[in-house]
Amino acid sequence: MIDRRALLAGGMALGGSIALPAPAQPAPRRSLAFPRGFLWGTATASYQIEGAVDADGRGRSIWDAFSHTAGKTKNGDTGDVACDSYRRWREDVALVGALGLKSYRFSIAWPRIQADGRGPANRRGLDHYSRIVDALLAAGIRPLPTLYHWDLPQALEDRGGWPERDTAHRLADYAAIVARALGDRVADWCVLNEPKTFTGLGYQAGVHAPGRRDDAAFLRATHVANLAYGLAHRAIKVEDPTARVGNALDVSMGYPATGSVADREALERWDKFNNLWFITPALTGRYPDGVLPADRLVELLDMRPSDEALLRARPDWIGINYYSPSRVSAVPRTGKLVGDGIKGEWAVAPEPSPKTDIGWDVYPAAFAAVMHRVALVTGSIPIEITENGGSFNDPPGADGRVRDARRIAYLDGHLRAVHAAVRAGVPVRGYHQWSLLDNFEWAEGYSQRFGMVWTDYANGQKRLIKDSGRWYAGVAARNALVGRRA
Ligand code: FCB
Repeated sequence: MIDRRALLAGGMALGGSIALPAPAQPAPRRSLAFPRGFLWGTATASYQIEGAVDADGRGRSIWDAFSHTAGKTKNGDTGDVACDSYRRWREDVALVGALGLKSYRFSIAWPRIQADGRGPANRRGLDHYSRIVDALLAAGIRPLPTLYHWDLPQALEDRGGWPERDTAHRLADYAAIVARALGDRVADWCVLNEPKTFTGLGYQAGVHAPGRRDDAAFLRATHVANLAYGLAHRAIKVEDPTARVGNALDVSMGYPATGSVADREALERWDKFNNLWFITPALTGRYPDGVLPADRLVELLDMRPSDEALLRARPDWIGINYYSPSRVSAVPRTGKLVGDGIKGEWAVAPEPSPKTDIGWDVYPAAFAAVMHRVALVTGSIPIEITENGGSFNDPPGADGRVRDARRIAYLDGHLRAVHAAVRAGVPVRGYHQWSLLDNFEWAEGYSQRFGMVWTDYANGQKRLIKDSGRWYAGVAARNALVGRRA
């Protein structure tokens, strides 16, 4: 199995100092009420659930190409069918409603809107998402569409992909098309899902689409992603000045592997890349100091004088995706260099903590801490947890019931962390469990199940609410966690 969390851990270069907060301890296991109006939700992504890759004029994405390349995904799995949600979307919206949730974060497949990533809109693609938005609103569920959850039109990759500046302009055009079509009913927009991950795994580590291994291309891709956010933010607001626009960012709390000065310095650099690289430019138009040498930004990022104004686009809300913490060491775990001759720092897993079935550490204290860490720079900007959850592969028992007690324990611990952060004044207003359904987990194919609903791929795609789904519905209904014996 590819440890994509460890692969993502490359930090970069030197400098500056920030004070990291001590990890907040989640409250003990007593009943905890959430603020009135707290948004309980769940999240999915187009390529992971939709299937129907040839329907209604959809073009090819980089994930079609990547998953159809031998050896790239576990068992050669592809998203060709996935959960067939493109056809079963009514059932899936009904599930969100049946769980009593008030927010559904889903993503729009760019190649369904513009098959080649440019040019006029495909009406059939827009109509599909328009129907989903209508159904959600009719059920009293807030739609939270993500515009880019990793399915770049392959035609744009053929023209250079994310390292190519034109991709930022193409994303802004696409954002305008969607905002024009749905903006009368959608108030909150998520532009990019996890820019660090799709640039890092896609262009540097090469374990996600498009599978490139090119440090220089990766660095440029991070800048183009930041430009794309700035441009799309403005494009959406041209269509609807009242729209509220943000990104879903994969942030994580790092801890030094040892108390050595070298490890602490490595942690600071790691934190600036891992947690700030896609926030600071939107707030200030600049990159955090000390990650790349200041006199080489032009060369390494292709940063141009007018870019500062394009980057600056204060988010209306901040999305946090959190799964597990990192322990950061100054000693590279591999000999690989990050960037153009810049030495990387590598994260190693904190020990000893329980693991989910995909091998990620379960450590809710880091979740509370990372909400504080983000709020240190974003202040009063509202935060939504756009993803959090775990892969637990427990199958249905003979009675057809999925007793996924480990997922319930994971969610309980992490929701206590959310509560602790809210109580401490961090402006978190919503939480989206990843995921509604078991689905196509990227390079892991169908081997990892993150859903609170079981997807029976082999048996007519039947959906079966797991114990965790019922438990989470109870939390949402009460707007509170009920005390459990420790
Ligand atoms: C996140 C992705 C999401 C899903 C979860 C498990 O990094 O945004 O699509 O794969 O991990």
